[in-house]
Amino acid sequence: MRLSEFVFATCRAGSEKALKKEVSLQPGKLLTPAFMRPQLITWKVQAELPTDFVFDALLGVVCGWSLGMARSAEDVAEILKKADLNVCAVHVFPRLISEDGLTPDEWAPVDALVDSLNQVCPISSESSYVLDVILGEAGEPWFIGCHPQSPASHPSAGALPRLTIPTEAPSRAWLKMEQSLAWLGLDSPGLLAGKSALELGSAPGGASWSLLQRGMKVIGVDTGAVDACVQNHPNYDHIGLPASQLPLDYLPEKIDLLACDMNLAPDVVLKYLEPLYQHLKPRWLVLTFKMNDARVEALMPYFIQQVQRFASGPVYAKQLHANRREVTLVSQAADV
Ligand SMILES: C[S@@+](CC[C@H](N)C(=O)[O-])C[C@H]1O[C@@H](n2cnc3c(N)ncnc32)[C@H](O)[C@@H]1O
Repeated sequence: MRLSEFVFATCRAGSEKALKKEVSLQPGKLLTPAFMRPQLITWKVQAELPTDFVFDALLGVVCGWSLGMARSAEDVAEILKKADLNVCAVHVFPRLISEDGLTPDEWAPVDALVDSLNQVCPISSESSYVLDVILGEAGEPWFIGCHPQSPASHPSAGALPRLTIPTEAPSRAWLKMEQSLAWLGLDSPGLLAGKSALELGSAPGGASWSLLQRGMKVIGVDTGAVDACVQNHPNYDHIGLPASQLPLDYLPEKIDLLACDMNLAPDVVLKYLEPLYQHLKPRWLVLTFKMNDARVEALMPYFIQQVQRFASGPVYAKQLHANRREVTLVSQAADV
């Protein structure tokens, strides 16, 4: 359904130009850039749109329809009334988000606003749209948009679960894993307890540490050294071999979560990942593809298609806030 003349996307700091380029290459040339601020871009849509048009982009963290600007909760209610739109949830988040997320102090004014918006916005569980209220710098009006609620979009406001990297986490990969688990809806306490994981590219161990803290048993594959808190954890088993030499016979017949975070070109990663996926039949996949050069960037849609080809459930891909020059792919097997 067409809700406006404009669409918008938020992005990771520094990805604006690449996002604009990605959208310019989308088939049909339906969008013309309109407005660009740090971490927020809008496009005008062509008069004629295919009936199944849904705006999305790999580098767009939140992608949806642009509905206008507002300075008060009442303005927002008016915008929704004019658009004749009910929403199922209200997401409020700042436009400027650092790769490490927001501190609790930065969330406090956001939360105060959520309460007042919830009082004036028509919320209906039957709506499939989430309202996005994006706060700019002091004095700037709020940017108002909405996006369809679907497994492709992150469930947290701004795709930003409320997380602070613990000082004891061995690496920032802790945050990447936690943001990915939240995307898959696996972040409720206790949900992963007793489940198993295997991670290719596990050192120094931030992501494995996240999974261990959630009560999982983890096999980590990496030739590099793993931090002592992970290495000495009773539920961690380190295989110090390159992925190319991983003996499948030594591995369990089934694993719940397959993670992969190797700093190799995606074509090489795919070569190791596909047979492992077929062998382990994981319910969940969490994978990063590094975008280390222009060739990889240009071929990224192809690499994602390759994962879609062998994964047993839908595959969603995004550059999350915690990602640097990489994108995250998540998938849940269809029979779960
Ligand atoms: C971005 S780091 C992984 C960070 C890690 N996931 C964490 O949580 O701290 C990339 C890792 O991939 C590993 N790696 C690169 N090539 C590999 C290969 N062929 N087999 C196994 N690990 C590999 C590197 O040794 C490096 O530790």
